[in-house]
Amino acid sequence: MQTATIAPTMSEAPGLPKYEFSAILAASERVNWRVEDLIGGDKRLDFSKPFLPESLARVEPLAFLSAKERRILNQIRGHDYLYIFGLVEEFILPFVLDHARPALHGNDARVRAFLKFAGEEAKHIDLFKRFREDFLQSFGSPCEVIGPPEAISQAVLSKHPLAIALVILHIEWMTQRHFVDSIVNDEKLDAQFKSLLKHHWMEEAQHAKLDTLMVQAIFEGSTEEERAKAIDGYLEIGSMLDAGLAQQVKLDFESLKRATGRGFTQEEFEWFHEVQLQATRWTFLGSGMSHKNFLDVAEFVQKGSMARLETIAQLFS
Ligand SMILES: [Fe+2]
Ligand SMILES: [Fe+2]
Repeated sequence: MQTATIAPTMSEAPGLPKYEFSAILAASERVNWRVEDLIGGDKRLDFSKPFLPESLARVEPLAFLSAKERRILNQIRGHDYLYIFGLVEEFILPFVLDHARPALHGNDARVRAFLKFAGEEAKHIDLFKRFREDFLQSFGSPCEVIGPPEAISQAVLSKHPLAIALVILHIEWMTQRHFVDSIVNDEKLDAQFKSLLKHHWMEEAQHAKLDTLMVQAIFEGSTEEERAKAIDGYLEIGSMLDAGLAQQVKLDFESLKRATGRGFTQEEFEWFHEVQLQATRWTFLGSGMSHKNFLDVAEFVQKGSMARLETIAQLFS
């Protein structure tokens, strides 16, 4: 199974990559995997291995933790990754369906590509859930998470569609970057977790392109005033998610205490918080916001956004 390169074709919008629905649909049909092929039966997480690459987990700078404790923290961050991706898929799925619905009798490839996109996100929700179940069966202590997902999903979906589409585009390119920059060549990771990241990446490659077309379509149907507010709206959702991530880092510290059965000094907590907050921000905010392809689309939506977002993304590096 491999993702295909999608050849650009003609499009009306200047300044954006030119993707074609039929090519995206054909590429997505070549990627064909089932959740059951990745987890369940004898396919279990191996807790003797890390789950996330160090560039995302950033556990190594925490010198007050033993090697085993750093691995446990890496796995807690892996659990966050499963949960937070499951959570964002909860608002991506209805948004994509709402986008597809008004034009169900239009371009056949467009309708099929968006319905496949939605179906894949529903599959990903199941995928992340099953991996979390496996994790929680074996990890040995509870890992609390922010939420509930429905409340976060509702808060995001109350924003303007152009802002939401930009957030989704950020998430899709972020997934691509995680895999290509730091997962594909990491031989130390647990095989099942790496397989999840790889298979997610394979389908998200098509989503990133469909999202670009989705942003373009919503942009074309928006007023000048709505366009001018889109990047602010994207940043408002980003700062809402950032507040959630800060909460999650504190919950992770509690999970680490429970899992290791040891106490920490105030100084160690502050050290943990400083490193892990930035690690979590880079994982979910900085790595998407500074992605070249995302920035190109942001610049298309509002001139000057690329420089603005590059500056803001430095806070999440
Ligand atoms: Fe997904
Ligand atoms: Fe996706």
